[in-house]
Formats: sequence, structure tokens, C-alpha cells
Amino acid sequence: ALRGSFALKAQKADQRFQYHLQPQASYKVAILGAAGGIGQPLALLIKMSPLVSALHLYDVANVKGVAADLSHCNTPSQVLDFTGNSELANSLKGVNLVVIPAGVPRKPGMTRDDLFNINAGIVKNLIKAVADNCPDAFIHIISNPVNSTVPIAAEILKQKGVYDPKKLFGVTTLDVVRANTFVAQKKNLKLIDVDVPVVGGHAGITILPLLSKTKPAVSFTDEEIQQLTVRIQNAGTEVVEAKAGAGSATLSMAYAAARFVESSLRALDGDGDVYECTYIQSDVTDLPFFASRVKIGRKGVEAIISSDLQGLTEYEQKALEALKPELKASIEKGIAFAHKQT
Ligand code: NAI
Repeated sequence: ALRGSFALKAQKADQRFQYHLQPQASYKVAILGAAGGIGQPLALLIKMSPLVSALHLYDVANVKGVAADLSHCNTPSQVLDFTGNSELANSLKGVNLVVIPAGVPRKPGMTRDDLFNINAGIVKNLIKAVADNCPDAFIHIISNPVNSTVPIAAEILKQKGVYDPKKLFGVTTLDVVRANTFVAQKKNLKLIDVDVPVVGGHAGITILPLLSKTKPAVSFTDEEIQQLTVRIQNAGTEVVEAKAGAGSATLSMAYAAARFVESSLRALDGDGDVYECTYIQSDVTDLPFFASRVKIGRKGVEAIISSDLQGLTEYEQKALEALKPELKASIEKGIAFAHKQT
């Protein structure tokens, strides 16, 4: 028995040793808009990831201080700062994943579409640089209106001849995070167990939580479904109003975006069990873009879980039909913008 215990100890020590010898996962991540309300907490959360070796922070201003501050955290990744258009290309070279929260946020009374005129141009320019400098990277778009900025990005990437629809993602993780939180609260469930798929788009009624597909299986009254659906759709506005002019969700958004980044890096690293909801090019409906739960792998979207759209309740089916015209218009507006300007 004694020999056995020594052997076991030796084996454990050996495993620890091998752990250190194993090549560390080392992905490079760039955040464009890194000095903003979302960018800063997102940079902090990504700085904590064991999968990241380099964190490139790009913004038009104020990014030096953010990078100096973060670089003192004793986690593995190296933090580099890049300021202004002349440093944009260098911020993207060799990068595996680019997250884009650059742009202006909503103020009370504004819809996400009201941001179109400013943010569409910002996203367009940033995507051109992504196409030129890291065309193979996963691209996560946070800048609103996501329903239009993702189609804009797709068109720009096509014009540059480097579009891979499997690697272009609109970040809708916050809708899932909110749905999980609100359902767990309402039903007194352990938050960690709750998972609600959210499909469609990322604005108002285009956000469609599929409450009937909640895991674990939960039953809702019609009234609860109505209340929860509307709350999830308007949760962003709840924050915009509470901040009273100071912007929109930043901390919960950073949390959600960091979850999506971590999931993507795990997928790049070969984890075969990564599922997230995201707004992507899709043929699950007659619209060219649609948010669904997808399986992510080394090469991006591996499969769209289209079965989520089967067996919908009457309420969900109606909501799905109702969102299509608005989502279609937002997609067309994005595509038209991308063509008009070039
Ligand atoms: P913010 O105004 O605090 O930060 C935006 C940052 O972008 C600023 O640091 C600004 O300097 C930078 N920026 C502006 N033009 C740029 C350019 N050409 N290149 C690089 N950086 C540039 O805004 P916040 O709160 O961080 O929101 C950013 C965006 O995220 C907004 O469009 C907002 O609507 C969107 N958002 C998306 C959500 C989602 O679920 N997808 C949720 C919440 C916000």
C-alpha cells in the first residue's frame, strides 16, 4: 500500500510537470474601440483568459493609459496599445480574433438604428483594415445596429475577396445572458443551469427568446411568456434609461462579449463542444442573416442548430413572422450602405 501511495504521488507530480511542459494555448486578440465603455472592462476580462498570449488594444484616443494600467496585471498575455488610423494595421497583424465595440452608444429615446449613420462608417473602415491585415481571424461585431453592421462587414469582406461567412459573428450573447438571468429570477432556478436560446436579430422585436426551448424544461403561463419576452427585448433600453444619457450597457455587455470570446478561443483550440447564439449569415429562414444557436469549431461556424426553429409555440411562430420584415429592412440598409460608399 505504501509503495502504491508513493507511486500515486510520483504520478501526480509527473502530471503537474507535464502540464507545465504542454504548449500553452496562445491566441492573439485585438479589441477595436478598446478605450470605450465596453472596451475597457472587456479588455480586463480578456486579460484574465489563460488562452490569450497577446492583447492588442486599438482606439482613436485614450488607449495608452488603458493599456499601461492593464499591463500591470500578472496574467500571461502581453498588452500592446495602438492609437489612431496610422497604427490600425499593426494592431491587426497576426491576430486570431478581432472584437469590435467601436462606435457611439444609444442615449434615451434613441433606437439602435439611430446609430446607423455614425457606426456604419466606423465599422466599414475597421473591416477594411481587418480584411487587409488578418483576413483569417474570427470577427466579433458588437457595434450597433448589429442587424445592419454585420451585413455591412460581409459586403466589405466580399469586396476585398476574403469573406468567410463562418468567421463573421454578430455578438448577441448579451440577449442570452439577459434571458437566462430573467428566467432564473422569475422561476427561482439556479442561474448556472438555465439556458435560453435567443434567435432572430439584435434590436427590439427582432430579438426572439425561445422560452419554450429553455433548459432545464420550464413551463410558463402565457402572461409570463409575454412579460419575459418584452423584458428581454427591451433590456437594453432599461439600461439606457437608467444611465440617463451616459450611454448603454457596458459592464454586462463586456461580460457577455468576454464569454463569446472565450468560447471562440476554446473552439479554435479544438474543444469540440462549443455552442453559442450569434447573428450570422444563414439559410435557416428566407433572410440572409439570422441569429441562431451554432456549434463553433476551429474554422468558425461548424453547424447551425436549425432544429431550434422546429416545434415553436404559436406565440413564437407569430413573433418570428413579425420580426422578419424589420430584420430584412435592416439587412438591406446595411448592404446598400456598403455598396453606395465604395
Ligand atoms: P463608448 O462611446 O463608451 O465607446 C466607444 C469607443 O469607440 C470610444 O472609445 C471611441 O473612441 C471608439 N471609437 C470611435 N470611433 C472609432 C474608430 N473609428 N475606431 C476605433 N475606435 C473608435 O461606447 P460603448 O458604450 O462602449 O458602446 C460601443 C458600441 O457597442 C455602441 O455602438 C453600442 O451601441 C454597442 N453595443 C452593443 C451591444 C450588443 O449587444 N451588441 C450592447 C451594448 C452596446
